[in-house]
Amino acid sequence: MVSVELWWSTPRAAENPELSDLLDARERARRERFRFQDDRDRYTVAHSLARLVVARFSGRAPDTVEFSRYCANCASGQETPTGSREPHGKPYPLGAASGVELSISHSGERVVVAAAREVPLGVDVERVSSERDLAGLAGYALTEAERHALSGLPPDFRTEGFFTYWARKEASLKATGEGLGGGLASVEVSGADAAAAVVSWTGPRPPRDVRLLDLDAGSGYRSALAALTPEPLHSVSYDAGSLLARGRRHG
Ligand SMILES: CC(C)(COP(=O)(O)OP(=O)(O)OC[C@H]1O[C@@H](n2cnc3c(N)ncnc32)[C@H](O)[C@@H]1OP(=O)(O)O)[C@@H](O)C(=O)NCCC(=O)NCCS
Ligand SMILES: [Zn+2]
Repeated sequence: MVSVELWWSTPRAAENPELSDLLDARERARRERFRFQDDRDRYTVAHSLARLVVARFSGRAPDTVEFSRYCANCASGQETPTGSREPHGKPYPLGAASGVELSISHSGERVVVAAAREVPLGVDVERVSSERDLAGLAGYALTEAERHALSGLPPDFRTEGFFTYWARKEASLKATGEGLGGGLASVEVSGADAAAAVVSWTGPRPPRDVRLLDLDAGSGYRSALAALTPEPLHSVSYDAGSLLARGRRHG
């Protein structure tokens, strides 16, 4: 059994001005490039929380925790869709905190950080949005079998069913470090009416073992956790409020 900690928060936690002190210079510069305040807040909360969670895991002071970034997609020489040269991808704690595995996701009113020891993780939370072009998204993200199964759902369940697929796929691709660049359609997963599982992986570097678990992110959201392990997953959810409120002072 692999135990994974999930720390949940909201962008509103960014009201605590001390959280910004936990970001390093590169993170602050990245945050300033977001056009919308909501995106800046999600970023501030996610990245300060990541530091606090890793600090708690490794017994370090939060402001001594440093991360490197690794994108499996770019590392394999694949063209980056954005052509970005900026370090990006999955965050890996460095130094004394190395070995703590981490994944970050933010959408709408949700920010989540997943952490465990030694087991690569991916977490995804998606706000269920009926304003998006479902057919277009399904064409991009789903395999033919998944599109067929989705169209068999009663119409009222299709939007949520689609975001269940999305969260399960994106969590899987974040666990391997490929992210969306790996191609959502390269991972086939079970549908909303079945327990979360990877059905097939046609991408270039299929992981040997991947476990999936649906997470409860509240109504209007779909969320999933993936871990590269043959063992069953067990998750423990925490409200990150008190960790964030303590912020830097008591780390
Ligand atoms: C990051 C990505 C996987 C998910 O985007 P999203 O659904 O909008 O956002 P989420 O909040 O669920 O996840 C974002 C977090 O995933 C993490 N992440 C980024 N790339 C990752 C990767 N390759 N593997 C695992 N985790 C990754 C980061 O921590 C990121 O948060 P941050 O940008 O605040 O640091 C997606 O942006 C992506 O892969 N894009 C690929 C296209 C692209 O522009 N790639 C650039 C070079 S390959
Ligand atoms: Zn990349």
